[in-house]
Amino acid sequence: MIIAVDGPAASGKGTLAAGLARHYGLPHLDTGLLYRAVGLAVADHLGKSDFEVYAVAAARALDAAHLIDVDKLTSAEAGVLASHVAVINDVRLAMRQYQRDYAHQPGGAVIDGRDIGTVVCPDADVKLFIVADSKARMERRARQLEAKGQVVDRYALYHQIEQRDARDRANPHGGFYQAPDAHLLDTTLLDIEAALRAAVAIVDGVM
Ligand code: C5P
Repeated sequence: MIIAVDGPAASGKGTLAAGLARHYGLPHLDTGLLYRAVGLAVADHLGKSDFEVYAVAAARALDAAHLIDVDKLTSAEAGVLASHVAVINDVRLAMRQYQRDYAHQPGGAVIDGRDIGTVVCPDADVKLFIVADSKARMERRARQLEAKGQVVDRYALYHQIEQRDARDRANPHGGFYQAPDAHLLDTTLLDIEAALRAAVAIVDGVM
């Protein structure tokens, strides 16, 4: 069983995907971490003319060991850097097979990102497209960061999320849209448990 979960920044898709993985006893891949690892690897080149070359090389050299420092990968800076490398098609291509292989392991997997239902796994058994109001997403992300002891400027965070979404939506290679066969789930008014119950109901209804 392959469950594809897509959605914008801080929509709750990662938490939901992890919850689904636990519920169904499946492995889970957060593909945002792959882009974040590549982004961090080439942070010093951002804005320079060689940025693309380094980003593609980093994507080709990426292996699972780079995903271990999750704290660093989940920072807001890593998210912004990720969205800069994610517009480079060769970066996406370099990581696509790894994502497909992960999804197609025996027994299946839960895999989340932006383009899973559209590009990486158009053959997924169940596709969820998670949305939530921008302010709700900002507030959730702010609380996550505060829980880690970080001081949060909510105004700046809101704009950062909006800008990252705009870059992701405009990405011609991003595949970031709701697949025609994806189920839409709006989590604006749902807490984690309620969102997971709603997602499980959708998956059970399809399987
Ligand atoms: O999901 P997360 O916020 O960790 O993703 C970080 C960035 O990586 C996104 O803003 C997007 O630019 C990129 N990304 C992508 N395709 C994916 C996953 C993430 O383009 N499948």
